[in-house]
Amino acid sequence: MPDPERQRFLKLGAFFHPTGHHVAAWRHEGAQIDAGTNFEHYVRLARTAERAKFDLVFLADAVATRDGNLEGLSRWPQYMAYFEPLTLLAGLAAVTRHIGLVSTATTSYNEPYHIARKFASLDHISHGRAGWNVVTSSNASEAFNFGRDAHYGHAERYERAEEFVDIVKRLWDSYDDDAFVRDRAAGRYFVPSRLHYLRHQGKHFTVRGPLNVARPPQGYPVLFQASASDTGKDLAAKIAEVIFTPLHDIEKGQAFYRELKDHAARFGRGWDDLIIMPGLNPVVGRTRAEAAEKQRHFQSLIHPDVGRELLSNALGGVDLGGVDIDAPLPDHIISPEQRRTDARISYLFREQLTVRQMYEKYGGARGQRTVVGTAEDIADQMQEWFVGRAVDGFLIQPPHLPAGLDEFVEQVIPVLQERRLFRTEYEGATLRENLGLRRPPSTYAGPGPAAPREGA
Ligand SMILES: Cc1cc2nc3c(=O)[nH]c(=O)nc-3n(C[C@H](O)[C@H](O)[C@H](O)COP(=O)(O)O)c2cc1C
Repeated sequence: MPDPERQRFLKLGAFFHPTGHHVAAWRHEGAQIDAGTNFEHYVRLARTAERAKFDLVFLADAVATRDGNLEGLSRWPQYMAYFEPLTLLAGLAAVTRHIGLVSTATTSYNEPYHIARKFASLDHISHGRAGWNVVTSSNASEAFNFGRDAHYGHAERYERAEEFVDIVKRLWDSYDDDAFVRDRAAGRYFVPSRLHYLRHQGKHFTVRGPLNVARPPQGYPVLFQASASDTGKDLAAKIAEVIFTPLHDIEKGQAFYRELKDHAARFGRGWDDLIIMPGLNPVVGRTRAEAAEKQRHFQSLIHPDVGRELLSNALGGVDLGGVDIDAPLPDHIISPEQRRTDARISYLFREQLTVRQMYEKYGGARGQRTVVGTAEDIADQMQEWFVGRAVDGFLIQPPHLPAGLDEFVEQVIPVLQERRLFRTEYEGATLRENLGLRRPPSTYAGPGPAAPREGA
């Protein structure tokens, strides 16, 4: 039974990677092969997820193609050709009514004004369903598209991100919620004192403001964050409302859950102000044997060039050029010390695996957890983690799309609903309401630092 003290249902996001999350998904007969630039495909996915009462759809992003060996890249189309996600979500907003629309956007290669404006617009277009996944860019090749010859250093990235998010929030507050009186008779559209000029001058940005969009319906679109390092976790504890992170075992999940929520409390935030939602890659079968066979089939579709590339990325860009894929990874490539202590990769070294087995293990969900089994098996795992307070929900990463989402919706969702772990109707009108997050007041509301005003 679910924990009786816990009022909330599991939170569920549907993470759409064009053809699916499995690295070889595009070769599977259940995947839409031209998915990256097929709008109707996404419409179908979003409507399926909404019918199942998912909280949100989630899109990752990069502002570059992946770099690497062209042989490998040509066999692995993920992030090579796909829609700009905010444009896509604006299209999806028009064909859905309830589901949240969350996109990744980097603080490394954007300007705060642009991001504030676009997400505020999406929040209005969708009537309060927008979310922003704040990232600092994992893909160094993005630098080359923005006048730089190298990616920002780690510390600078996070410093920039913190200043960036602060500006964006305050730009969203440019107009008070009640600024627009639109009084035809008096000839007044908005109240001048309810418009605020930011006049920000910081280390990385200078922004005068105000934003030329009304305050978003949710106050602020919901802020997501995904990162693994201590600096990343610090930023998450300060600003994130939903944390998306890879978690592989329940004890580490429970420790991460407590750590992040306690850390957030140090910034004056409550436990419920922060939702932890790791990725989960479900491979569903009518029987365990069918699920295992399905997974075996996915793995058999990974071309060895792709496997090497994938594992090299997972291990931080090591060279696997001449490595025998049917033998264990030589010690000189990743030291025994790093195998034990690096949380991002240690799960790959828990058993003695060959290189092929390692890339297969990683490839299923590109670093996130895979659960292979029947609908009941998958629901059991989700329940155990939720009731055990290792998570508040999951970002479901179907291995192939649309088939993997259909299977999850048809088979796993009803089991979760029967167990009263998941809603049968949306509770609220906005993404915030469905996630149980409060609507933030404007920084200019009530007591607080007086804001400089134009003409004042
Ligand atoms: C689960 C997860 C998802 C991420 N998704 C994206 C993404 O879609 N786009 C992106 O540019 N960076 C993404 N990142 C990268 C982070 O923003 C960050 O750059 C990366 O994790 C390295 O920083 P760190 O060492 O602090 O973790 C993701 C990171 C994690 C852990």
